[in-house]
Amino acid sequence: FQVVTEVVTHKLNHIPIFKGDFASLPPKVQRFVAEKAELMNPAGIYICDGSQKEYDDIVDKLVERGVLTPLKAYENNYLCRTDPRDVARVESKTWMVTKDKYDSVCHTPEGVRPIMGQWMSEEQFGVELDARFPGCMAGRPMYVVPYSMGPIGGPLSKIGIELTDSSYVVLCMRTMTRMGQKVIDALGDQDFVRCIHSVGLPRPVKAKVINHWPCNPEKVMIAHRPKEREIWSFGSGYGGNSILGKKCFALRIACNIGRDEGWLAEHMLIMGVTNPEGQEKFIAAAFPSACGKTNLAMLTPTVPGWKVRVVGDDIAWMKFGEDGRLYAINPEAGFFGVAPGTSHKTNAMAMESFQKNSIFTNVAETADGEYFWEGLEKELKERKGYSEEQLKQLEITNWLGDRWHIGDEGKAAHPNSRFTAPAAQCPTIHPDWEAPQGVPIDAIVFGGRRPEGVPLVFESFSWEHGILVGALVKSETTAAAEFTGKNVMHDPMAMRPFMGYNYGKYLEHWIKLGKAPNKAPKIFHVNWFRETKDHKFLWPGFGDNIRVLDWILRRVSGDEDIALETAIGYVPKRGTINLDGLPRIDWNELMSIPKPYWEEDIDESRHFLDSQVGSDLPQPIRDELDKLEKRVHSL
Ligand code: GTP
Ligand code: MN
Ligand code: MN
Repeated sequence: FQVVTEVVTHKLNHIPIFKGDFASLPPKVQRFVAEKAELMNPAGIYICDGSQKEYDDIVDKLVERGVLTPLKAYENNYLCRTDPRDVARVESKTWMVTKDKYDSVCHTPEGVRPIMGQWMSEEQFGVELDARFPGCMAGRPMYVVPYSMGPIGGPLSKIGIELTDSSYVVLCMRTMTRMGQKVIDALGDQDFVRCIHSVGLPRPVKAKVINHWPCNPEKVMIAHRPKEREIWSFGSGYGGNSILGKKCFALRIACNIGRDEGWLAEHMLIMGVTNPEGQEKFIAAAFPSACGKTNLAMLTPTVPGWKVRVVGDDIAWMKFGEDGRLYAINPEAGFFGVAPGTSHKTNAMAMESFQKNSIFTNVAETADGEYFWEGLEKELKERKGYSEEQLKQLEITNWLGDRWHIGDEGKAAHPNSRFTAPAAQCPTIHPDWEAPQGVPIDAIVFGGRRPEGVPLVFESFSWEHGILVGALVKSETTAAAEFTGKNVMHDPMAMRPFMGYNYGKYLEHWIKLGKAPNKAPKIFHVNWFRETKDHKFLWPGFGDNIRVLDWILRRVSGDEDIALETAIGYVPKRGTINLDGLPRIDWNELMSIPKPYWEEDIDESRHFLDSQVGSDLPQPIRDELDKLEKRVHSL
């Protein structure tokens, strides 16, 4: 028995080619394109080559149609306003489709709805597909977007092909991935991840299209078939739902591939930190959406002598090497970052990254053709030399397209408005950011928005304890998804919205990979967001976070007496975090481990793990929880 590679060339019945050479595509790609074109019935097929000219042509067309507005103050920067109903990921419309339900979700008790992924049966998926995709691209071009996650041809890299009827998605994919002909050249006869995306509004359009942004909010579906390595996304053009290389492939599908192949796909930044002695170490850090990854990765240290360089700001693919060390690559090629709050004060390197060749989605625009969002008021005033009065009079068009002034009701930019910028434009991009084999990780850091009870930093006692710490990550909800209000929610490993398979099995995979001869990195937890009773942050954060990274990396080196053992882990001895030059820090409050808080937290954590992971919870993690509980009771 022999596996015969596909040699048949495929025919496109009646569907014209708008651009590219269909016949020169690898047979597997031809077949994928032909089958899906047949299903979705586009007006024609546009095979993307990834060139600058192609990008420019699409931009010109979108400007003409009013989808993009040039931000005149910069070179090649554009503003895009979406339909206001299509502004964030939709977790409630995101599914994993597997034959066995428990490949996707855990054995939760009767009546408990799993929060780490939703499962859909194959039968149901068939029904949902039939209700959406047949003919869904009528009257629109179908773009064929070949792309690589990770440097093309690298040992950790993977190829995907996205079919989409959104030209906005094509532009974003070119910035966020390595995209175009060179990927087809590298693909040859190999398999690839199949990605199908439609805005879900065939022509002639009967619904009212708002802001020239076609979408179909009532019928949104983001479905993944991990076994088939397939993604089907319908009805939304918002990045997290439509730039399929990102969350859908690089996290949900990739964690399945990693499970099969022995590596990890994580919602983590990757950064290189060089101390004043010139030694560099690498950190991978997982915080939930809108909790500070992009900011930390691009941090400008406030302590002299330190240097931070960014490898990635959102996703890490990590594999233990022959030498037993954990190596990480950033599978992406761009930043899709939260705009509000970003300023020269908080994140100068992000600001420098998007001065050109960038797309801003749902931000506001000033009369001078500059972008604007909450957090830029002060630097705008200073840069322009405005008086308070002049600042308030500045004509701004808010993200909804309405006239707006600073001080007016509502927001200038949507809280989840985003910039899309090429990573290579970041002044602190690491020289090895495209190293195909990745960079060696010395420390893993978890964190979240924890207004209460959780100290600035602590170190876990072991790999297994560290996994428990990750498994118990919680955070106040943010605007990155559809949740409203400020609740502290579980977001284990910062992966709740991105889990691609049974979370108990995922924890097992982590445990297994950290065993000897592999040298597991130390695991830490940080909390930049602890508050005083009157809701002020206890820690200045941003550039001052270097002071915490300093302590973490000294712990990794391990030759100083700087840690104190507590019930929840090692914490810094007083005086071992450099506070020089900071306003007064309430160290006791920042570092306290209140017994009543932690007793309640343990009960809640146990309930969470019992109800959400149930019988799938690996015994070593249960043991760690028992040990933690004992330690907390004897605080
Ligand atoms: P995704 O890209 O959605 O995965 O989120 P992210 O983790 O990259 O979050 P990002 O770095 O964009 O931060 C989001 C918000 O957190 C912004 O409003 C920041 O201003 C705020 N933030 C980031 N770092 C800090 C910090 O150290 N202290 C405080 N107080 N706020 C911070
Ligand atoms: Mn993210
Ligand atoms: Mn980010």
